[in-house]
Amino acid sequence: MDIVGVVVTAVWAMLPAYVPNNVAVLAGGGKPIDGGRTMGGRRVLGDGKTQRGTVVGTAAGLGLALLLSAIAPTLSGLVGTRLPTFPVLAALGLAFGAMLGDIAASFLKRRTGRERGAAFPGLDQLDFVVGALACVWVLAPQWTTKVFTGPVLLVVLVLTPLFHVVTNVGAYAVGLKDEPW
Ligand code: CTP
Ligand code: MG
Repeated sequence: MDIVGVVVTAVWAMLPAYVPNNVAVLAGGGKPIDGGRTMGGRRVLGDGKTQRGTVVGTAAGLGLALLLSAIAPTLSGLVGTRLPTFPVLAALGLAFGAMLGDIAASFLKRRTGRERGAAFPGLDQLDFVVGALACVWVLAPQWTTKVFTGPVLLVVLVLTPLFHVVTNVGAYAVGLKDEPW
């Protein structure tokens, strides 16, 4: 596969993982996942991780994966790269895994004394990639090893933090997010 094919495949395969956390920003609110519980005097996860945000975000990722699967054959011809479709388990692994990675990061932030909204450079940009890749690998191992070849994985790890920074600064600039990270 040429370099363009690798980059296109990397972005395409990660789209169902990019969308959930951004949709959660729009859909969030209501009951926090941890129900207000604390651990060692601090919130387990905090008010920034809500049930509605998690469910709607995951559903959005699943819906997008369905849509991408439907247009993959047509689009593959246009871009000259065989774009992968998303089996349900792969879609679920990517979408829910991305949310889970972000939730795990909040857990770590609270354990290290960071309040809701505090930055944790590195973790903030990669939590959802690691969560998505780990989950999709567990739920759809064959699909994952076939799609995420070494070069594709490398592009994902380089490009994702960039996308994350751009979308979050954008969401902050238009007033959707309280912090630009
Ligand atoms: N959000 C949500 N549920 C999630 C993830 C995000 O409802 N599982 C919503 C919340 O309204 C949250 C916003 O999206 O405030 C921004 O997400 P994020 O930056 O991840 O949360 P923070 O509020 O910054 O909290 P934390 O410090 O725990 O990351
Ligand atoms: Mg945050």
